Amino acid sequence: RMPERVRVVEVGPRDGLQNESTQVPVAVKVELIERLAKAGLPAVEAGAFVSPKWVPQMADSAEVFRTLQKRLGVTYPALIPNLRGLEAAIAAGVNEIAVFVSASEGFSLKNIACSRAESLARLRDVFDLAITRGIRVRGYVSCIAGCPYDGDVPPAEVAAMAHELLVMGCYEISLGDTIGVGTARQIRNLISQVATTIPRERIAMHFHDTYGQGIANVLASLEEGIAVFDSSVAGLGGCPYAPGASGNIATEDLLYLLHGLEISTGVDLEAIAETGDWISRLLGRHNESRAGRAVLAR
Ligand code: HMG
Ligand code: MG
Repeated sequence: RMPERVRVVEVGPRDGLQNESTQVPVAVKVELIERLAKAGLPAVEAGAFVSPKWVPQMADSAEVFRTLQKRLGVTYPALIPNLRGLEAAIAAGVNEIAVFVSASEGFSLKNIACSRAESLARLRDVFDLAITRGIRVRGYVSCIAGCPYDGDVPPAEVAAMAHELLVMGCYEISLGDTIGVGTARQIRNLISQVATTIPRERIAMHFHDTYGQGIANVLASLEEGIAVFDSSVAGLGGCPYAPGASGNIATEDLLYLLHGLEISTGVDLEAIAETGDWISRLLGRHNESRAGRAVLAR
């Protein structure tokens, strides 16, 4: 049942950097994205066209996209909250986007200032324009294993939001444990419930590592037949509207697990580890990847 090959979606330049307190220069963002793509990652989420009042760190995404040297065969999705964001993204040359909704009402209200129902209605215009322009759309569902405001989130709510996104036209739905509270059995149950409405090959998992459960949850997901995982170099990140939540699982740790299971990724772990070390030093941040630190020490 375990996949032979996994697609790793790098989200560090967006999910990672969105939470940095000091503004990261465009040149550094661009170098980070280019290094990650060069290391073999098939997808690098490179920025967000959200309100700069809400997430100042992503305010220069248009410039990042304009400066970036894209590699053939690599996708560079941008996170989009509304039609205005999509129009700005198109103007900057973006050709794949990621939209996001929450499985819980509380996080929806805090993160995008509207209810879940409103968020879906708002996305209709985004899909219309994206489809007209031939832009591929990936979808995120947040708070799949718990919400910082509402507590427990029923799997049926996750399945319902994921299904809405699929029907609207997402090619893949990434299920986000935004605050990193999920544990392995819970994640397996969740996947099997979501898989009753969505094919497993359309599901990706997006784990934050707040409670150190991310890699265990990847293994649980692999055993459920999931073959796409989001991760962040050096474990960068967190969400500004999920207090206390830490970064995503580190790309280095994910690769070490997958390669150990003889699952191919096409990604060079050493090159990612070097990039993780470089960006951590540059940001004056502790490198959160154990595998990354270990690879460089050997
Ligand atoms: P709002 O305040 O309700 O909407 O925000 P608004 O229309 O009143 O806009 C507020 C201001 O932003 C206005 O400016 C708009 O023009 C401007 P003003 O008139 O006051 O000068 N604005 C924009 N500017 C640039 N680009 C835009 C845009 N839209 C409006 N696209 C809104 C609603 C959705 C805009 C806001 O709540 C927002 O941007 N939220 C994004 C929050 C965010 O980025 N969170 C982190 C990403 S989600 C995440 O990390 C989870 C994920 O990783 C998965 C997981 O882990 O679960 C994906
Ligand atoms: Mg996230």
